[in-house]
Amino acid sequence: MISQTMQDAINEQINKELFSSYLYLSMATFFANKNLTGFSKWMHVQADEEREHAMKLYQHLEDRGGRVLLKAIAAPKTEWTSNVEVFKESAAHEAMITASIHALYETALQEKDYPAQVLLQWFISEQVEEEKNAAEILADLGLIEERGTAVLMLDKQLGKRSDE
Ligand SMILES: [Fe+2]
Ligand SMILES: [Fe+2]
Repeated sequence: MISQTMQDAINEQINKELFSSYLYLSMATFFANKNLTGFSKWMHVQADEEREHAMKLYQHLEDRGGRVLLKAIAAPKTEWTSNVEVFKESAAHEAMITASIHALYETALQEKDYPAQVLLQWFISEQVEEEKNAAEILADLGLIEERGTAVLMLDKQLGKRSDE
């Protein structure tokens, strides 16, 4: 049986993943309103992935006889001053999530919870990917400095992200 400490920590992380999904949905509609459909699509794929992250943790708790306790999801921000600012915020958000996953892993070590450690190793690798993606887009946007045609080209490129 999974310990109460571990259950509480995983429930916290479920909430953070669901908030991430909410945040990216908010970013998606922000871009859709600016007719940046590629950026919007990219954010939708991201939002779906975050929900999958939440569900992986949710399923893990259920599988081990733990109790999933859903908490209120905070309202995400709705306005940003520029495209770069949106991606800066998503990069900062991912860095915060990485720290949170690392803390959760630390808890799994202290609790000697081996199944949770295996699950969380997947999340640790996933965060490397997430931070890399965010940094790459940010670098591209930084280089083009919001110039119209270049932004449109990047919009087209990001729109090609598949939902798998
Ligand atoms: Fe996530
Ligand atoms: Fe993420």
